[in-house]
Amino acid sequence: MKSYELFDKNTRAFIYGNQQKAAQRMLDFDYLCKRETPSVAGFITPTGVGSIKLFWGTKEINIHRYLSVADAIEAHPDVDVMVNFASERSCAESTLEAVNSENIRTIVMIAEGVPQRDVRKIAKIAKEKGKWIIGPATVGGLKPGCFKIGNAAGTIQNIRDTKLYRPGSVGFISVSGGLSNEGYNIVSRNTDGIYEGYAVGGDVYPATTLIDHLLRYEQNPNIKMMVALGEVGGKDEYQIIKAIEEKKLTKPLVMWVTGTCAEMLPGGVQFGHAGAKADSKDDTAKAKNAALRKAGVVVPDSFEDYDQKIKETFDKLKAEGKIESFIEPETPNVPMDYAQAVAEGLVRKPTNFVSTICDETGEIHNYCGVPIDQVIKEGYGIGGVLGLLWFKKKLPQYAIDFIELVIQIVADHGPAVSGAHNTIVTARAGKNLIESIVSGILTIGPRFGGAVNGAANHFSWGLENKLSPREFINAMKKKNTNIQGIGHKIHSIDNPDERCEIMMNFAKDHFPKHPLL
Ligand SMILES: CC(C)(COP(=O)(O)OP(=O)(O)OC[C@H]1O[C@@H](n2cnc3c(N)ncnc32)[C@H](O)[C@@H]1OP(=O)(O)O)[C@@H](O)C(=O)NCCC(=O)NCCS
Repeated sequence: MKSYELFDKNTRAFIYGNQQKAAQRMLDFDYLCKRETPSVAGFITPTGVGSIKLFWGTKEINIHRYLSVADAIEAHPDVDVMVNFASERSCAESTLEAVNSENIRTIVMIAEGVPQRDVRKIAKIAKEKGKWIIGPATVGGLKPGCFKIGNAAGTIQNIRDTKLYRPGSVGFISVSGGLSNEGYNIVSRNTDGIYEGYAVGGDVYPATTLIDHLLRYEQNPNIKMMVALGEVGGKDEYQIIKAIEEKKLTKPLVMWVTGTCAEMLPGGVQFGHAGAKADSKDDTAKAKNAALRKAGVVVPDSFEDYDQKIKETFDKLKAEGKIESFIEPETPNVPMDYAQAVAEGLVRKPTNFVSTICDETGEIHNYCGVPIDQVIKEGYGIGGVLGLLWFKKKLPQYAIDFIELVIQIVADHGPAVSGAHNTIVTARAGKNLIESIVSGILTIGPRFGGAVNGAANHFSWGLENKLSPREFINAMKKKNTNIQGIGHKIHSIDNPDERCEIMMNFAKDHFPKHPLL
């Protein structure tokens, strides 16, 4: 790769931070450009290792996470780019580590608010080492057909529409990240497209400035014209003028400095970016546009005719035979994410399973058709909820009260029995809630707890066969089967369990019928 190039078709990068969406957008761009290898080699996430699953076209690929810049470099010595999504607190530190590494040549600092002092130090080291920093406070940029930084150029649809998957002849550079997207759009509509485009970022001291990139574009024979967007504040534009005067910049340049409206507003207006404020007359957009025009730059009268000036300059170069035509390649497709396709109503899929008890697909969960807010408002209570979930209906009040009564009287059931005992022992051994409860539940069997199941089976068999209690006992005896739940060591018919008494009395008082009591 030539020294004036930042990326090519084989460039691979680390993403610092857990920015999966940005990484997926980079991979989708690769796919659109028909790259052979994914441009994301790994994530650097100091909070953990492992891997992240992303799409490469229609296939899923695993991209590794590393704890540090050093670990990532050791695993992928071929990688020479780091897209740094670290917060403004840690962006400088991680960028410095990458700048000082052997392998990493280009670093993009996305965060806003990185201390200026740190950025100046990083920029100095990078210049000394012949490395490139883009940012801070930038969305990055892209080289069509080769590599895209993070979220630059927006959605994949936008990238398709602006033909950013194949190179044109224009080198674009702007201060603002947001305006760079607009710039790509304008350039794509009025020329044969972008060859390379970046936003240097809106800080007072970006690590590389407009002129640094314009000088790169000047050296690149594939770039036939340059388009730039400056901003009120700072004196970068005067460096461009100086370079033109010194014949270091000779290619046609169309440029507009935004912020001319600042003069209509009282006081020193600060626009969105930290650097977008004129501290002297020379820093104003009006002064800079006038000086650029004087130096021979194509400067429109306002942003309104920026596109026209770009078109005129491009058409002139074309007429002079300096830009050759090419056959437009077929517009490639990138598979759409299923979630997005569903959201846009483009696909449908039969359900994998259906629950007749609860539904959480709508705005609000519902239990058997009753929305949860209604469950609370109408005071269904625990008994009412169990009625909906287990019996799939609104139970009558006596049945709701009975369920709640049963829950209350067996709530302590009980530290003395083996299930609860095992739960307690497991919890004391340091296991978590789920493991402890499971350990207790797994103890349930025919001789403990499970007898309740067995008893229920036996008694309902008797009921279904219309047997009287005496006939039922005789039938079981004849079958030589012990009736489960009978024969408790403490309680008997003469010394009944008080809890059974409570349940029976409740049933006698409230149930519409109780033939077996
Ligand atoms: C840069 C940016 C992506 C950083 O995101 P962020 O949410 O601020 O930062 P992080 O995701 O790194 O998380 C913040 C902190 O929580 C920590 N953290 C995150 N997840 C964690 C977890 N699971 N456990 C422990 N710590 C965690 C991070 O290590 C980080 O610590 P640090 O600040 O000391 O480094 C975000 O601020 C941003 O998009 N900014 C706008 C940039 C911009 O507009 N640029 C110009 C475009 S034109």
